[in-house]
Amino acid sequence: MTVEIDLTDRTALVTGSGAGIGAEIAVWLARAGAHVAVHDVRSAHADATVDRIVAEGGRAFAVVADARDDTALARMVADAVGGLGGLLDIAVNNVGMYGEHRPGPFTTLDGDHWRGLLDQNLVLTALAGAAEARAMVAAGRGGVILNVSSGETTRPAPFMAAYAAAKAGINHLTQTMAVELGADGIRVVAMAPGTTLTETVREAFDDDHVADLVASTPLRRLTEPDELARLAVFLVSDLARCITGQLILADAGAHLSRTRPPNRRPEDTQ
Ligand SMILES: NC(=O)c1ccc[n+]([C@@H]2O[C@H](COP(=O)([O-])OP(=O)(O)OC[C@H]3O[C@@H](n4cnc5c(N)ncnc54)[C@H](O)[C@@H]3O)[C@@H](O)[C@H]2O)c1
Repeated sequence: MTVEIDLTDRTALVTGSGAGIGAEIAVWLARAGAHVAVHDVRSAHADATVDRIVAEGGRAFAVVADARDDTALARMVADAVGGLGGLLDIAVNNVGMYGEHRPGPFTTLDGDHWRGLLDQNLVLTALAGAAEARAMVAAGRGGVILNVSSGETTRPAPFMAAYAAAKAGINHLTQTMAVELGADGIRVVAMAPGTTLTETVREAFDDDHVADLVASTPLRRLTEPDELARLAVFLVSDLARCITGQLILADAGAHLSRTRPPNRRPEDTQ
């Protein structure tokens, strides 16, 4: 007997899927058969992921919007649902970011930093999730919402206080969403990646910091985007149909070391 994941006839939206972890999730959902709406703020990035999917024989289209703009975000979800024939079975809220903010000691973080990181991670995940859930309830056939959190929520993350708190908010939001939406047949799960060397992260970390992270991780390596994508495919599939309101850690064991090696302080890298 073989066990297969078949998402044929399922529809999916993946936010921030023009690059990095989101792009791999979109590609792997399409490989499993789903019709995928690829969202990104950069149209060239979204088109690149769509091209990858189509080149493999999958089905996808791009939706472009800045997720930090509430109105644009709501319109993007509506456009995605429209492009998917009015049905949304799977929504992956992957978009999240540091944006223009820099990590720094807790004592130096101002209100702009705190509000910016809460907006750019927790608030946009909540607003996207609400719009997606309304579409799923309206269609009446249940669904799955997968929120992308972070391994930084499971242990102290020096110099990343606001980002880690915003992502920890996503963990709790996931539980509340699961409780509120369960009666409509909608599962809500959070996935927490460990450090993954996407382009943005690679640019932000120097080689010494990457070496520190690897040395402090039980598996002595970091997480790869395709590993997170495989996990995402499982979590949104019927194989995981009894899982809701849960945070799934995928971090090569990094949470077992008590404190994350700190990012270099901004003044150390200047
Ligand atoms: N990479 C890691 O080490 C890591 C670890 C834990 C959690 N995460 C989380 O995983 C998610 C993906 O991370 P990543 O490193 O793959 O991201 P990334 O920085 O590579 O960005 C992925 C895509 O998001 C798009 N994007 C950025 N801002 C946007 C906006 N305002 N509106 C719409 N799209 C926007 C970018 O154009 C890019 O194509 C994020 O939520 C991140 O917080 C990442």
